[in-house]
Amino acid sequence: MTNPHAERILVLDFGGQYTQLIARRIREAGVYSEIYAWDVALEKIKASKPFGIVLSGGPSTVTVEQTPQVHPEVLQWGLPVLGICYGMQTMVAQLGGEVETASHQEYGYAQIVAETPTALLQGLADATDSAGRALLDVWMSHGDRVIRTPAGFEVTAQTESCPIAAIADPERRFYGVQFHPEVTHTRQGQQIINRFVHDICGCGSEWNPANIIDDQIASIQQAVGSDSVVLGLSGGVDSSVVAALLHRAIGAQLTCIFVDNGLLRLHEGDQVMQTFAEHLGVHVLRVDAEQRFLDGLAGVSDPEQKRKIIGNTFIDVFQEQADRIEDAHWLAQGTIYPDVIESAGSTTGKAKVIKSHHNVGGLPERMKLNLLEPLRELFKDEVREIGSELGLPHTMIYRHPFPGPGLGVRILGEVRKEFADLLRRADAIYLEELYKHKLYDEISQAFAVFLPVKSVGVVGDNRAYEYVIALRAVETIDFMTAKWKHIPYDILEIISNRIINEVRGVSRVTYDISSKPPATIEWE
Ligand code: XMP
Repeated sequence: MTNPHAERILVLDFGGQYTQLIARRIREAGVYSEIYAWDVALEKIKASKPFGIVLSGGPSTVTVEQTPQVHPEVLQWGLPVLGICYGMQTMVAQLGGEVETASHQEYGYAQIVAETPTALLQGLADATDSAGRALLDVWMSHGDRVIRTPAGFEVTAQTESCPIAAIADPERRFYGVQFHPEVTHTRQGQQIINRFVHDICGCGSEWNPANIIDDQIASIQQAVGSDSVVLGLSGGVDSSVVAALLHRAIGAQLTCIFVDNGLLRLHEGDQVMQTFAEHLGVHVLRVDAEQRFLDGLAGVSDPEQKRKIIGNTFIDVFQEQADRIEDAHWLAQGTIYPDVIESAGSTTGKAKVIKSHHNVGGLPERMKLNLLEPLRELFKDEVREIGSELGLPHTMIYRHPFPGPGLGVRILGEVRKEFADLLRRADAIYLEELYKHKLYDEISQAFAVFLPVKSVGVVGDNRAYEYVIALRAVETIDFMTAKWKHIPYDILEIISNRIINEVRGVSRVTYDISSKPPATIEWE
């Protein structure tokens, strides 16, 4: 078996908003990549034995004292280095060049003229100018700029407002670009990353789904031996992929516990059982705990209290089941890489907070179990690719995220079974129409919300005084900011008609046109 971790590129994070993208692009090139904060201990960088280093962008300026710098030793190891934006500026400043704060910031598209051929840019072009020089469409986002290169460097590309847009010292294999190759706006961006990791750093393409799966299976088998493993299966992407991976690695030693809390989407429990128990042959314990959750929630309308009750009840139910499994020494979880990156920026902080108030936080200690996190190194898109390779259905892998407390936070105020039943049906109609009109995959998250207010309507010949359903659909990259989705009016009309006609108890449907911030994605 080929070890997919053997060749790796380190990304040193200077707090840039695109740092995670850099690592993702490197992995898309087939090379394992990890992100470390710029000031991580030197020993840690050394120990990971990178084939090359990328210095990310960041909000700082090298024109003041005490700025974030790469450990000077790293620049003496003879490793290839690619500095992006701030990463290039700090490399320049540290090696004796000069950087200034430009009179105006440059933000958006720019066209660079590639002048001197180098291993990084040679042969790449989106167009050529009258002199036959290559032109590349790139994405710029910077205030400072390099005005003098250090000894050994040459300028390899320029724009009108940025005369030093790319630099290279081919002998030392040091490269710098003022623009951002990691964002898709830079059309040849992936090619540039490919050039760096393959041609300049000499890495192959061992980081691919088949190799990752083989590698994970071997390490799971080695860690677990003949012990049993317990997994809380929610039906979401991450826990589903963990289930499929563990099943392949240890078969019957895995027991999944699927807790039906009565706050799931329509037919969700049956679908999970079908995919895992019937189709894949995974051992799944389905626990019908609806009544217990509803009893706990009766009379409670404060959102945070509802979350706590749902979380605690889940832990109680899960633990009761897990205690009955013999030799269970391991608890598997669907933690993924963005949850654990130690980065310089604060971009990952919120994700941690979101994760902490659901799932089985605290369970491993309470149950004295070892933790197994086979997706800990993977980005979400890699988790999906692996799920696909393991044979999980597309609809499951590309499903919108669903919060741990489920419909509990989509029924405003007190949760009652009749409200949950009504919401489930409205939500199912909404999603069915989004699938039918090929909108589902364009949307990051869509769902219906139950409003416990009554409004007047005419249903048939009678005046009705019934509930309101709100529809929400957002587009987002990171779920920290989000824009409401512009669903065509005629489709909204179909959805609204169907909900009002088919779901008894609803006489009005509204569409949520609030973006985040300030409105959150969920209503509670
Ligand atoms: P908000 O509403 O904070 O949601 O804009 C951002 C993302 O987080 C999800 N979310 C949760 N997920 N437990 C979860 O597992 C929760 O309590 C929770 N609250 C919000 C939400 O669905 C969206 O994807």
